[in-house]
Amino acid sequence: MSETKGDAREVRRAAFAAADDTPANPCIENSLGDLINRRLGRRDLLKGMLVVGAVASMGLPDRPALGLRSTAADQTRFDFSEIEHGVDGTHHVAPGYDAEILLRWGDPLFSDAPAFDPDHPSAAAQALQFGYNNDFLGLLPLGSAGDRGLLCVNHEYTNEELMFPGLERQDRNDFIAMTAELVATEMAAHGGTVVEIARIDGRWRYLRKSPYNRRITALTPMRIAGPAAGHARMRTGADPTGTRVLGTLNNCAGGITPWGTYLMAEENFNGYFWGKEAIEAHPEANVFERYGIPGAWYNWGQYHDRFDIAKEPNEANRFGWIVEVDPRDPASTPIKRTALGRFKHEGAEPVVNHDGRVVIYSGDDQRFDYLYKFVSVGVFDPDAPDTNHDLLDQGTLYVAKFDADGTLSWLPLVHGEGPLIAENGFPSQADVLISTRLAADLLGATPMDRPEDVGVNHSTGKAYVMLTSNDRRTAEQTDAIHTRAENHWGLVLEITPMHGDHASNRGHWAVLVSCGDPAEKTIEARWNPATSENGWFSNPDNCAVDPDGGLWVATDQGSLWQQNSGSADGLWTLETEGEARGTGRMFFRVPVGAELCGPCFTDDGQTLFLAVQHPAADGSKHYPGFGRASSFQDPATRWPDFREGVPPRPSIVVVTRRDGGRIGG
Ligand code: FEO
Ligand code: CA
Ligand code: CA
Ligand code: CA
Repeated sequence: MSETKGDAREVRRAAFAAADDTPANPCIENSLGDLINRRLGRRDLLKGMLVVGAVASMGLPDRPALGLRSTAADQTRFDFSEIEHGVDGTHHVAPGYDAEILLRWGDPLFSDAPAFDPDHPSAAAQALQFGYNNDFLGLLPLGSAGDRGLLCVNHEYTNEELMFPGLERQDRNDFIAMTAELVATEMAAHGGTVVEIARIDGRWRYLRKSPYNRRITALTPMRIAGPAAGHARMRTGADPTGTRVLGTLNNCAGGITPWGTYLMAEENFNGYFWGKEAIEAHPEANVFERYGIPGAWYNWGQYHDRFDIAKEPNEANRFGWIVEVDPRDPASTPIKRTALGRFKHEGAEPVVNHDGRVVIYSGDDQRFDYLYKFVSVGVFDPDAPDTNHDLLDQGTLYVAKFDADGTLSWLPLVHGEGPLIAENGFPSQADVLISTRLAADLLGATPMDRPEDVGVNHSTGKAYVMLTSNDRRTAEQTDAIHTRAENHWGLVLEITPMHGDHASNRGHWAVLVSCGDPAEKTIEARWNPATSENGWFSNPDNCAVDPDGGLWVATDQGSLWQQNSGSADGLWTLETEGEARGTGRMFFRVPVGAELCGPCFTDDGQTLFLAVQHPAADGSKHYPGFGRASSFQDPATRWPDFREGVPPRPSIVVVTRRDGGRIGG
């Protein structure tokens, strides 16, 4: 991180990728470490952590001498040969598997879409083509044969120095080359894609002429629903009703609901607003500060007044939500569901509770921010799909508070309860939701090491939370979960709802693994000793639970890949049960500069879709033999086309087993 300090663009990059931007939570005195510190001396704290470790931690066997393998290796549910840590210009998958390119940035999605022409960027063309920086992947089956479906893809952000010929990083250059047309092209490359895919003659392909195909961009008209819709803080000059907004931004992970809709999480939306000079007198000043608005990572405000907080004070309040899309109706209006709160939503992981209520888990990905869940009032009815449409408009949003005894509480964010009253700046439920972070601060939620994706094992009811890193946590801020100061490597947390009830306000937690190199004693990584030299990883970000209940973890080390693991990012399996619990195995590796997103399985477990985001981009300075920042003309890799003059292209990879069996089985 040291080389990147003070570099605004690296801060932006970090916010998007592995290392986040400046922590915005002033309430970090609420950390567990502080609470315990207040009661116990530091020495006792260490003792207390050992006790906590026995009660609440992962209960891994003590690490034997490195190199020894326990019998756990033989008890793993996964059966594939690991690939090795490493870094090069292409992707790698375990032996016996194929990993083919399904879709690339710029691929035409409609019969009238032009072919990819990177030398002549065009907003009109981009709006008809696959967007940039694919992140979340969700699959909605069509028919019952398992060979067709709608792939839902988020496009998180854009890298202008890799997208546009001749451009350098524009935030370092006062956006001097960012014309209105290039900004419009960026806006068209954001958002999401719905595209029909089919398995034809044994190979998955996308169907360019499918009537389902759709691009959602930063300009797509959307409706605002739920308790904050229409509130004065949601109204703008262009929308005096506070119920209509154009577009969605920085869509990171997401979810597919049981009723077949696609949830897009708006993450680092703050970066798209500018107008710093207006912040002091701004009516939302304290709220904007908590959210890092304006981030000014893009110059969209130069051409679109709504992205200038001086000209349109409320537009930023209309981003940072979960957007629900009906992929089966390409003419449908996406809906921002305000009941799920406003923060830097990493994702949205839906579960149907045993009583039919719908629970959505969502992390707020910033250093010292929180983990949330939403519990619906209504129940999901699989026999009456039309009654499920507005389930996400009524319910309770909760924030997590973790206790040192291995239990956790979910604290309701409800206007009028506890401190969430007008005197404290919360005169209505709309205010609680628009200012979710500030409301959660008042409740004393636990500040975490950047909560990213959540995956739920529907058989065991356990939820897995990826905590990617927090290099700003001090020794005094450590707690029972976040035991490491300057946590560069992250951890995987397991949550067990009380009595299997996802709607319960109580549960238990355990650290499954503390990431990083277990051979590096000083960093106190914790893995099952059966983990090989390739099986450990750093910076968990996205995850998936396969149809057999196996946990898969994708990593995003950002520009710090060399110091955090020395390997490119990738996909690992991670055992959650039995003797092998806490054992990682490396399955897939991305090309240099990329991160891995969107692991997504077909229902039969025989196909795995992966999103390779920003190839060539991150940390190419550390790539041996290259050693410099990548650009359109001079990228560290031209994956996946490898054709001179064609830039690297974020792409979807489809993984299948040569013998046709289940992935990883
Ligand atoms: Fe977009 Fe938090 O990763
Ligand atoms: Ca990421
Ligand atoms: Ca991330
Ligand atoms: Ca992510």
